[in-house]
Amino acid sequence: MSSNDPAIVEASRVFTDPTAYGDEPRFHAACALLRRECPVPYVDVEGFAPFWALTRYDDVMAVERAPAAWINAPRPALGPAPAEGEPEREMPVRTLVQMDAPEHTAYRKISVEWFKPARIALLADRAAELAKRSVDRMADLGGECDFFTDIAVDYPLYIILALLGLPEEDFPRMLKLTQEMFGNQDPELARDTDDDKLMATLLDFFEYFQGLIDDRRAHPRDDLASVIANATIDGEPIGVLEAVGYYIIIATAGHDTTSSAIGGGMAALLAHPEQFRALQEDISLVPTAVEEMFRYVSPVKQFMRTATSEQVVGGVTIPKGGSVLMSFPSANRDEAQFERPDELDINRNPNRHVAFGFGAHYCLGTHLARLETRSFYNELMPRLAHAELAADPAFMQALFVGGPKRVPIRYRMR
Ligand code: HEM
Repeated sequence: MSSNDPAIVEASRVFTDPTAYGDEPRFHAACALLRRECPVPYVDVEGFAPFWALTRYDDVMAVERAPAAWINAPRPALGPAPAEGEPEREMPVRTLVQMDAPEHTAYRKISVEWFKPARIALLADRAAELAKRSVDRMADLGGECDFFTDIAVDYPLYIILALLGLPEEDFPRMLKLTQEMFGNQDPELARDTDDDKLMATLLDFFEYFQGLIDDRRAHPRDDLASVIANATIDGEPIGVLEAVGYYIIIATAGHDTTSSAIGGGMAALLAHPEQFRALQEDISLVPTAVEEMFRYVSPVKQFMRTATSEQVVGGVTIPKGGSVLMSFPSANRDEAQFERPDELDINRNPNRHVAFGFGAHYCLGTHLARLETRSFYNELMPRLAHAELAADPAFMQALFVGGPKRVPIRYRMR
């Protein structure tokens, strides 16, 4: 089928329609149709500059593997759905994801050591302690809670604070940042994310991070905030704006993503009760279970790339300057790559999911995300005697990063 076929036009609207991300069966059915019938559709929807969507695993990987042919600037991701008559909005601060080589390489180098397994392993005790605190809270809540908002949201942000070396009192301010930066399109979570409000949030953070830079320049410590504040680019001290952008990407990229994986992982486990029981019975399955949660939930919905010259992907010719949207949730359900892709299988191994992307921009936080999610489930599973969904989970209407917004559960702790 071609991109003009009415069924394909309809299916490919899911990439610009936040409500489709809030309705997982609809989203995945549309992607399955596209992978089968028209894997690289041309998407031309009012309010968005046109693009091609990549729905197959191999096509996403081909683009990720060729960063000289496919660059992040000027359109690293599909922005929020614009108001009627307004143009698509760009991400407001320039960070790693807006950059390409050689600038990207230089900026990524600043923090890369901090995200390597040996360094992340130093956070293991803190992660275990915070996981225990979250599970204790679950016990305090009695036998019923909204696992997402009551439990999964806070935990990853505390770990980011620990990594950056920021005090816990700053938690509410950081929470506001991550929520307003990615202000999603879900009317139920309606935060007013008009440009003025967003600008006010950014100014507040600018002030906060500027204070942090001054402090860590005057009194460097053994934390990531000090490494960023004292970094040099081409022998010159990093600019204040660039350092602020760096803090912002770490705070934001490390938060909603991991809480979506932890919360969405629980929703998926309870929708597959035999998988839940298998994990309860054998805690040594936590590492493969966590990988499968990343695949199944795919918290990052898309990034985009723009062709530096004419390219062919999935048999479709993309002109110089044309943009492609890499759909990670679709690639992660590609039946050519994964057997029974719509089933959660905590034993799945190998599991070469693309939830963290691939290549030059491969998620910096993979080891941290794994440590956090594993610590959490290692703490939770032995203490949970029973759990079930108390109502259907609800999913966020967000074009960029999302997962569940409610996972109501009933449970008994040991
Ligand atoms: C389950 C949790 C997470 C998921 C699913 C996820 C996913 C992703 C994806 C898909 C990308 C883009 C990769 C690409 O373009 O190929 C990315 C980039 C990035 N992630 Fe994560 N991420 C997670 C957790 C984290 C954490 C905990 C941190 C750090 C605190 C983090 C920091 C970053 C950064 C800094 C980038 C930009 C890298 C660059 O452009 O060079 N992420 N992540």
